[in-house]
Formats: sequence, structure tokens, C-alpha cells
Amino acid sequence: MHASESSRWSEWLAEQAVQVGHQLERTRDAVLAHAAVRAGDTVLDLGAGTGLVALAAADRVGPRGRVIGSDLDADCLRVLVAQAGRSQLPNRVRVVQADAAALPLADSCIDVVAARSVLAFIADRRTAMREAFRVLRPGGRISCFEPINRYLTRHHTLVDLAPLGSLGEAISACFDAIYADPDEPLLTFDERDLVHLLEDAGLVEVGLNLIVTWHRFRLSEEEARQWLTQRGSPGRPSVTELVASRLGRSAAERYARYFVEAASRQTTSLRRGSAFVWGRKPPV
Ligand SMILES: C[S@@+](CC[C@H](N)C(=O)[O-])C[C@H]1O[C@@H](n2cnc3c(N)ncnc32)[C@H](O)[C@@H]1O
Repeated sequence: MHASESSRWSEWLAEQAVQVGHQLERTRDAVLAHAAVRAGDTVLDLGAGTGLVALAAADRVGPRGRVIGSDLDADCLRVLVAQAGRSQLPNRVRVVQADAAALPLADSCIDVVAARSVLAFIADRRTAMREAFRVLRPGGRISCFEPINRYLTRHHTLVDLAPLGSLGEAISACFDAIYADPDEPLLTFDERDLVHLLEDAGLVEVGLNLIVTWHRFRLSEEEARQWLTQRGSPGRPSVTELVASRLGRSAAERYARYFVEAASRQTTSLRRGSAFVWGRKPPV
């Protein structure tokens, strides 16, 4: 991750909280439930961002428990500390600025490692998972959640591109190439990789809950515009920027006008995938 990307995570997470806050809370609660967080536990929220999981964990561990939020991004950690202060739980929460692949924590000091939407962004996931294993105490638990973008409906199939003629064909070819890119970590990573990642690190009793859902909805014109300009994560191009970079600005503008009109006129079907995966470090 580049420094310029990292500085935008806190803003991106704030936008997500506004747009899909309830969904994030449900995911957070499921991550903590799979980890069976108990009173008195020490929880590490790996890639904690601005503290979605860490702050809820602080509530669950009670006055004898502790939560460590670790993240590469100092700006996110500043927001996390401020939120912990407002939540009346500041004494239970501390933060550590660190790469998940090199945690400045002692061996076997953590009861629970939780990570929501983090592994997909880490280049060296195997090392990060081995680090999570190292800091877990024997018998400690790990619980992760990741969107599985391989199941996501491909952008160029959301609306019928045939009326756009050669521009529609160019848009389809452009997205086909992106989805076929073997180096695109957000697309080449799925639930089997997650299970193997945990098992290869030495975790046992690895469980998986893969969720693939369809939603049918009609976008308003404003929502359709937002669809084209939003980013999957900070530093990544929006659909409009992608099309402009590959087919030119005027093609991107023409496509945006068509997409907004078509998506707001018809019902759109969208498939999404996500996975919860959890495991335990063998007791000695
Ligand atoms: C999608 S956000 C999720 C944040 C938080 N877990 C949540 O549920 O809101 C991804 C987070 O992973 C962090 N991150 C990315 N690569 C990292 C790495 N190598 N080590 C530690 N954190 C990393 C980012 O800084 C960002 O805060």
C-alpha cells in the first residue's frame, strides 16, 4: 500500500459507515461471535481502521479485558483513539501502528485476533497470518471476514450495453480484461484461499461461512452516478476513471450518461459474495 492511499482510509471508512452502516454492524457482530469473545479477553483487531470491531470488542471484554487496534495507517488510529475516548472505554483500548506482517507484539499474548476486510488488502497474507498465529496464545481464536469479489456481478453485465454499439463492445472488453487480470488480488482471492491461509499458518478447527446473495433493485439517477464514481477502496479508480483511462474521457462521459439513464429505468440484479472464516490455535 502506498502512503498516499493510506492517508485516505479514514475518509473512505467514514463514507462506508454512512452508506452501509447497518450492514457493517451486522458483519462486526458476526466476526466477534465467531471469535467467541469473552469477558477478560485480550483482543487484537488486525487492520482496525477507525475501530469498528475494536470498539465493540472493548464493550464485550469488560473491565478486565483489553483491546489492541493495529493498523498501518496512523490517521485511522488517531480517529480510533478519539472514538475510544468518546465511548468511555479508553482504558481498555490501545493502538499500535504496524504492518500486519510484522507485529510488535510478544508471542502468545492475545486471546482473540479479529480482522474485518483487511486480508484482501495485504500483499503478504501468508506472513500476516503466521504473525497472527504467533501472537495468539495456545487455544486462542481468530475470526476474519472478507468480501469475495469473485462472486460480484461483473460491472459490464449490470445494464444492457448493446444499444451503445462499438462503445458497448469496448466497455465489455475493458472489464473482461480487468476481471481476467491474474495479478488483481481483490478478484483472485476466494473463500478456499482463506481456509488454506488459516490452516497453513497452523490453525485448527477452521470454519467457513460463505454467503452469496442476490439483490434486485432500481437505482435512482443519483445512486447510479454514485455507482460510477465510488471506489472499492482508497486509491483505486472508480468505474468512470477506469473507462476514461482506457477509452478516453469522452467515451467515459458518454458511457456515464447511458449507464445513469439505463440503470435508473430498469431493475438491476446484483450478486455479492462474502466469507467469514475462523479457527483456533492448538492448545499445547
Ligand atoms: C477496509 S479497511 C477495514 C478497517 C476495519 N477493519 C473495519 O472493519 O472498519 C482495511 C484496513 O486495513 C488496513 N491495512 C491495509 N494493509 C495493511 C497492512 N499491511 N497492515 C496493517 N493494516 C493494513 C488499512 O489501513 C485499513 O484501515
